[in-house]
Amino acid sequence: MADSIDGGMSQQRWERTHTYIDHLFSDDADRWSREHEASLDAGLPAISVGATVGRWLTLLTAVCRDGGSKLVVEVGTLGGASALALAGGLAADGKLITIEANPDHVEFARAAIQRSGETRIDVRQGEGLTLLPELVEELGQGSCDLLFLDAIKTEYPGYLDAGLPLLRSGGLIVADNVLGAGDGWIPDSIDDEPSRVAIDQFNRRVSDHPRLQGTILPMRQGLLVARVL
Ligand SMILES: C[S@@+](CC[C@H](N)C(=O)[O-])C[C@H]1O[C@@H](n2cnc3c(N)ncnc32)[C@H](O)[C@@H]1O
Repeated sequence: MADSIDGGMSQQRWERTHTYIDHLFSDDADRWSREHEASLDAGLPAISVGATVGRWLTLLTAVCRDGGSKLVVEVGTLGGASALALAGGLAADGKLITIEANPDHVEFARAAIQRSGETRIDVRQGEGLTLLPELVEELGQGSCDLLFLDAIKTEYPGYLDAGLPLLRSGGLIVADNVLGAGDGWIPDSIDDEPSRVAIDQFNRRVSDHPRLQGTILPMRQGLLVARVL
């Protein structure tokens, strides 16, 4: 007999829910698992977005401009899994610039992206807080359709300040891990853990910002989506 829906979202139901969604809506599950295995073999940490968040990234990139996004910026490439998901929603002549601080991750991501045949992704090596202001200079204010944040959690408030000028009106900020950080769940307790403090500050600043309208999708560790007014 099926469980009653009155019990709410237990841990087991949460896991079954994600398995169900992944099964139904991840038509590229083989690619995800191949790339995941390859990144683990290369010694990269298992902290990539999974197929469910990946599908959201593709959809958000696709719907945020008619015909798909023209320009997307990501902070935190790792092995390129989320970059490839974002690229799935680009316009044919669109472009994604993804920023990664760790040179080993840059090398792996460039090779994985080349293997995939995707040619619209430019992996830049450097720190998000340094390269975002340089991108504002290079690309211009309001040039970008979507900014995806997934690097160091204590820097999320700084990425917001540095990256917001890149976004056009109607563009989207998307940020991963905005409910869980370190080994704790933010709505349970923030305590003094620096990444939870910074992410809570980031969430509150997005929520209070007069030019942003957003919410958090409570999937995996939480995906924040906010539109620039
Ligand atoms: C959670 S992983 C990114 C996962 C990736 N978005 C995905 O889902 O496939 C975070 C990445 O940010 C990188 N990183 C850490 N500090 C950074 C910084 N200051 N600027 C840019 N990247 C940074 C790490 O080396 C790591 O590869």
